[in-house]
Amino acid sequence: MPWDRVQLNDGHSIPGIGFGTWKLGNGRGSIDQVDQALSVGFSHIDTAQFYANEEQAGIAIRESGLARNDIFVTTKYSGVDGLDIETSVQNSLMKLGLRYIDLYLIHFPWLAQPDIPTAWKKMEALKDQGLVKSIGVSNFEVYHLEILLASAKIKPAANQILLHPYVYAQQAPLLEYCAANNIAVEAYSVLIPVTSLPGGPVDAPLKSVADRLGASVDQVLLAWAKAKGVVVVTMSTKKYRLEGYLAAGDLVLTPDDIARIDEAGAKQNFASVFLRRLALVALAGGAALGVCGYLGIDLI
Ligand SMILES: NC(=O)c1ccc[n+]([C@@H]2O[C@H](COP(=O)([O-])OP(=O)(O)OC[C@H]3O[C@@H](n4cnc5c(N)ncnc54)[C@H](OP(=O)(O)O)[C@@H]3O)[C@@H](O)[C@H]2O)c1
Repeated sequence: MPWDRVQLNDGHSIPGIGFGTWKLGNGRGSIDQVDQALSVGFSHIDTAQFYANEEQAGIAIRESGLARNDIFVTTKYSGVDGLDIETSVQNSLMKLGLRYIDLYLIHFPWLAQPDIPTAWKKMEALKDQGLVKSIGVSNFEVYHLEILLASAKIKPAANQILLHPYVYAQQAPLLEYCAANNIAVEAYSVLIPVTSLPGGPVDAPLKSVADRLGASVDQVLLAWAKAKGVVVVTMSTKKYRLEGYLAAGDLVLTPDDIARIDEAGAKQNFASVFLRRLALVALAGGAALGVCGYLGIDLI
């Protein structure tokens, strides 16, 4: 198997790549998209209360005919409708149509209310009750994990975080902390250099590696993440891309490939790109208002 399963600290294991349902909406189309992912060979579905399509993911899972053991389902406590963890997990189980969830995550640290230790105790209770096999967190920084681990009886099995070459340097201490504490890292939005930030410094090394390997840039990015030892959570609405993502598990990047991508990624600060874009939008908005004022067009 190109994307080997990753061992979790609680004895369970997780497929090395998952298909995420964020942005799929909740119409018939979302069921078809999950169906498609399962039919090309994905066996790990990553959803969340917040994505509002757990029900559709559940339908697709049932339609696939796959045995429960052959599919790994992650969902997240997103604090939707102000519901607590205990009620939310029951709702998620009902919507997914499952008796247990493989991995249940606290979607963001600020959802751990009234505080991280109390919320984590509730998560531990879900595992003790057999409602979830593994428990973890998402978007937790080192200091959140330090608070959690100080009182945890059960360590988080995973931390799902943003990871791509432009944030790698920034996330490296978190990756090291998770490795030191045997917490698996799941990476989302790995493809940002092609989806949102094309034209940046990583384009050149990605293209040269892709050309040498006869692969696409998406595949090289996924292989880069795999080389960092993380589980990848990605998605595509296109069958050929999903097949490519799975095949990317066979790509082997050299230490030099990885170093060149890392170095190029460190040249561009992700936050500063967004601030620059925001400033451009503000400037464009200001200019448009000025022109409208000059032309006597009343916008308000
Ligand atoms: N825990 C969290 O807070 C959190 C946050 C964000 C995401 N996630 C999870 O991670 C999953 C994936 O997130 P993501 O969508 O940000 O991941 P991603 O893997 O970085 O991006 C997937 C997107 O890339 C597009 N894409 C792929 N190759 C492309 C190319 N060559 N050119 C242009 N577009 C291309 C796909 O579009 P096409 O459909 O056109 O192929 C798809 O929309 C989510 O569904 C969710 O499950 C979790």
